[in-house]
Amino acid sequence: MEYETKPRAWPDVHFGRGPYRFDIANLLISKFNYTTYLEIGCYKKKCFDEIVIQEKICIDPVCKYNANFRPDLVPDFVGTSDEFFEKNKKTFDIIFIDGLHLHEQVKIDIENSLLCLNKNGSILVHDINPLKEIYQYRERCQHTWNGDVWKEWVRLRSVNADLNMFAVDLTPIDHGIGVIRKGHQQLITIPDDLTYNYLEKNRCHVLNLIPPVLIDDFLLAS
Ligand SMILES: C[S@@+](CC[C@H](N)C(=O)[O-])C[C@H]1O[C@@H](n2cnc3c(N)ncnc32)[C@H](O)[C@@H]1O
Repeated sequence: MEYETKPRAWPDVHFGRGPYRFDIANLLISKFNYTTYLEIGCYKKKCFDEIVIQEKICIDPVCKYNANFRPDLVPDFVGTSDEFFEKNKKTFDIIFIDGLHLHEQVKIDIENSLLCLNKNGSILVHDINPLKEIYQYRERCQHTWNGDVWKEWVRLRSVNADLNMFAVDLTPIDHGIGVIRKGHQQLITIPDDLTYNYLEKNRCHVLNLIPPVLIDDFLLAS
């Protein structure tokens, strides 16, 4: 993958391994002294359990676990993100969107997250960098499923100049994670029809994909 901005150093200075999605969240938490975290779509709490912060909440419509048997794996709110935001009165410093991987739902999740994001807050969006065409199908047909989340990411990069958006390349350990903060960005021009072929040819530019080592530089734009 050819980044537009070349990494200054490798391996990564922050982590020395990985990094995983929760490393990026924890980095932002410690950098900005965040105290409140929301995770949309927590599944088995693999990421949620790694988050080090004062107050954290996770939501998921699916609760696979018997609350008596594994109470620790029951989400704080059992329901969809739409149901959660309809009732929610809290605000958060950092929100991780990893629920339904369809572009129209991610659009709503980002809009609702922006409404309850504290000043200087950050939104993380998982699955924005599908590495194979089959991963980004709207139907889940194999274990790795990014859905077409990337389409909403790219669309937002083309219409909202008041956001600072960049995507951290977590391959081969994890999928790409997008960081959204209030700030500014140069809008990109995209075709009406977003195809995987277009993503393949323009991946680094349209996602604003960076290696983890450059996170600090890109945070400065907000
Ligand atoms: C990829 S898993 C989340 C993994 C978890 N964030 C982690 O990093 O370990 C996606 C989860 O989103 C949940 N989900 C599906 N539709 C949702 C919706 N509308 N709102 C919130 N969560 C949803 C699924 O039940 C599933 O558990």
